[in-house]
Amino acid sequence: MLFSLLCLSCAYLSQVKTDPSMDMPLRVGFIGAGNMAYGIAKGILSGKLKPSIGTQTYIVFIHVFHFSYLVFVAVKPHLVPEILREISQLVTQKHIIVSVAAGVTLATLELLLPKDSVILRLMPNLPCLLLEGALLFSRGSSAKPEDAALLSSLLQHCGLVEEGPEAWIDVHTGLSGSGVAFVYLFAEALAEGAVKMGMPSSLAHSIAAQTIVGAGKLLRDTGKHPAQLRSDVCTPGGTTIYGLHALEQGGLRAATMSAVESATERARELGQKSAGAGNSN
Ligand SMILES: NC(=O)c1ccc[n+]([C@@H]2O[C@H](COP(=O)([O-])OP(=O)(O)OC[C@H]3O[C@@H](n4cnc5c(N)ncnc54)[C@H](OP(=O)(O)O)[C@@H]3O)[C@@H](O)[C@H]2O)c1
Repeated sequence: MLFSLLCLSCAYLSQVKTDPSMDMPLRVGFIGAGNMAYGIAKGILSGKLKPSIGTQTYIVFIHVFHFSYLVFVAVKPHLVPEILREISQLVTQKHIIVSVAAGVTLATLELLLPKDSVILRLMPNLPCLLLEGALLFSRGSSAKPEDAALLSSLLQHCGLVEEGPEAWIDVHTGLSGSGVAFVYLFAEALAEGAVKMGMPSSLAHSIAAQTIVGAGKLLRDTGKHPAQLRSDVCTPGGTTIYGLHALEQGGLRAATMSAVESATERARELGQKSAGAGNSN
């Protein structure tokens, strides 16, 4: 039965040590080798501790589970129930399963895998691909603090990695998963404002992108509250306060809060549907 899965893509990174004090090498596998798996693997490989024998690709699940101790499930959410049923017999209590599938809850994952499986639910975002991700994860009922510490250590080069209760995962999806698109919309609008005022489009888009990168780095690296940084650039009677007034009149703040709220609610709704799908079989 497993060999009927030969056409599927599973990447396997062998012998990645995350902690120099560990006696045993940590072997990490992936089921699904798309964008997210690539971003996470890149983060793991960019750590100081390099894989000792490089990477290999296996195309049958049995190899992934035989050789790997920590396995990322990085396929599209609708495939998760089918795949977890397929791998269920291979999962032992020595494995750590990390699902990145959006909307697939820990309850669904636990229902589909053997009792007491060690499961973590991780929600990355697209900038993971550039090691600038924002990642939030939650522990399943059998995952211990040391499993969480291991995952945090493994992913430390992927960006910001935090642990929280599962209820925050949907909020994180609204804030950061979808939030990336909200920032792109703002970038587009910034550039179009400049085009309206006579700047060539390509230059306007380059400057808008760099403005967002610079503002983001200042926000993250100074640790200042955004209101403080905003006030720092507002000369009384100057250009910025005039522009900010226009944004407030246009309802940018309320619209952005509503966008995070809507995206969070949609993530919750999708999670409930996926729980239904997990239960229905
Ligand atoms: N992209 C994001 O920004 C983002 C953010 C947060 C969470 N996520 C989650 O990350 C997961 C992966 O997303 P992605 O963007 O990386 O998707 P993706 O680029 O489409 O990658 C999915 C991978 O799964 C493989 N696959 C398909 N069917 C399979 C099967 N039956 N068995 C094994 N592998 C199979 C695909 O192989 P083929 O290409 O050969 O079909 C592909 O390598 C999703 O659950 C998504 O919800 C993504």
